[in-house]
Amino acid sequence: MSDSADKGKAPQRPDQGEDSGASNNKGSSSDKKNLPPKMIESLMEMNPALKNELASMPKDKAAEMLSNMDISQLLTGLSVGGKNQKDMASYKFWQTQPVPHFNDDKSKEAITQGPIKIIKPDEVPKTPGPLVEGFEWCTLDLTDPEELKELYELLNNHYVEDDNAMFRFSYSQSFLHWALMSPGWKKEWHVGVRATKSRKLVASICGVPTELRVRGERIKVTEINFLCIHKKLRSKRLTPVLIKEITRRCYLNGIYQAIYTGGVILPTPISSCRYYHRSLDWLKLYEVGFSPLPHGSTKARQITKNHLPEKTSTPGLRPMETKDIDAVFDLLERYMLRFDLNQAFNREEIEHWLVYKETEGKEQVVWSYVVEDPETHKITDFVSFYNLESTVIDNSKHKEVRAAYLYYYATETAFTGDTKALKERLLLLMNDALICAKKARFDVFNALTLHDNPLFLEQLKFGAGDGQLHFYLYNYRAVPVPGGINDKNQPDEKKMGGVGVVML
Ligand SMILES: CC(C)(COP(=O)(O)OP(=O)(O)OC[C@H]1O[C@@H](n2cnc3c(N)ncnc32)[C@H](O)[C@@H]1OP(=O)(O)O)[C@@H](O)C(=O)NCCC(=O)NCCS
Repeated sequence: MSDSADKGKAPQRPDQGEDSGASNNKGSSSDKKNLPPKMIESLMEMNPALKNELASMPKDKAAEMLSNMDISQLLTGLSVGGKNQKDMASYKFWQTQPVPHFNDDKSKEAITQGPIKIIKPDEVPKTPGPLVEGFEWCTLDLTDPEELKELYELLNNHYVEDDNAMFRFSYSQSFLHWALMSPGWKKEWHVGVRATKSRKLVASICGVPTELRVRGERIKVTEINFLCIHKKLRSKRLTPVLIKEITRRCYLNGIYQAIYTGGVILPTPISSCRYYHRSLDWLKLYEVGFSPLPHGSTKARQITKNHLPEKTSTPGLRPMETKDIDAVFDLLERYMLRFDLNQAFNREEIEHWLVYKETEGKEQVVWSYVVEDPETHKITDFVSFYNLESTVIDNSKHKEVRAAYLYYYATETAFTGDTKALKERLLLLMNDALICAKKARFDVFNALTLHDNPLFLEQLKFGAGDGQLHFYLYNYRAVPVPGGINDKNQPDEKKMGGVGVVML
């Protein structure tokens, strides 16, 4: 795997040369040569086996092969001719794991949904596997501010960057506290590797428990996140060792499935979504190199184009409070059931993930708003976003970009069965979310093509990003679910209803 291919979960920049995203990626599905070269290039990066395969062919034959593949084949790593053995064989670690292979029969009839391997608890090793000499396993105690800080520092210096190494995710300590100590969290699932002599934390992989519904089937899973290896220890096959260790610890706790996401193609995504970005402070994004100045436009025009009203316009919109938990829980639960892959929250989780409580020494991580009907006082809608800053790696003027990420939302309008009405409602609600984020000093608002997002992304001036996010299930087979994008990698209303999970 090339280093750059590993970084797609990143604070990716909007597609270069694109203004509000959609316009440049035209081309019918029968003429794939119209894919922009940059997109083909990044798709190739995500699928190294295919890249190698094409490189060994005469140029015209490779071009012809490429033109016969659709984007979903490129994205999910299917190789030329549909044989794929070569692709799977190149995943030395993942081919040994209980995950669907690229060449598994994709027809709906052939896929029996469910666990791939039945785990016998008494066969799970009671002690960790060996680590290379000089390093040892540790369990992080994130209730200890010192250890929380150590994880923060590892991630702050070594976690996900964009392909051009201009931005790196910077999860705050408050964020890590929120993300890793959710209801039911287990200390043993905060796994670290330390250098034996210096005690320095050099790698991490973490998980928290939750429940998913996959086409109505409820499964207990670990949500895996924060896989990170110190830059000096890369390409030494430490990742498989970390994954095996957290898997062992999950198995010991009776959890046999997991969900994880990444920008890199692995066997085999259950879905793939695309990142979209809405500028809130266009000039700053331009100055840090995140937003390009579209050909033929001017800075002034871009600033005007991205201008937002001062005030929100949904009657009854206000910050969510503890008293709204039951109403939001009920609304979100019904809304989530509309998606093939969704998170089965309990009440405690709703409180943890959505209600901001001011605490001394902690920064605000999540912003949630409800719409209370002014007459009936019923909660009819809610929307939330979280704060994830990125460090600007080499810029004299700006040190960080404050990004708001769209989190969970729901609206009663979704149950009317009237897509036009839903679209109108979401345009109103999301425009208000943008205004709230701007007021909270965010520079950019990011969203994926999951949930009902294809209904509003382009109209609200979100630009297409160059990042793709793939969703994976561990030890669970299911027919892939749509990710809100079509075979031209554009948001598509006909491809909604698949992904209903937001991973941090
Ligand atoms: C991702 C990262 C841990 C990979 O480390 P590495 O040193 O490049 O890779 P290693 O030599 O340890 O391991 C290679 C194996 O890990 C797999 N791998 C690489 N990235 C992976 C990921 N994000 N998730 C799961 N497996 C991954 C590779 O596919 C390969 O297995 P294979 O032979 O079956 O193909 C490292 O690049 C890193 O810390 N990057 C910054 C943070 C990051 O991107 N984290 C992942 C967020 S989704």
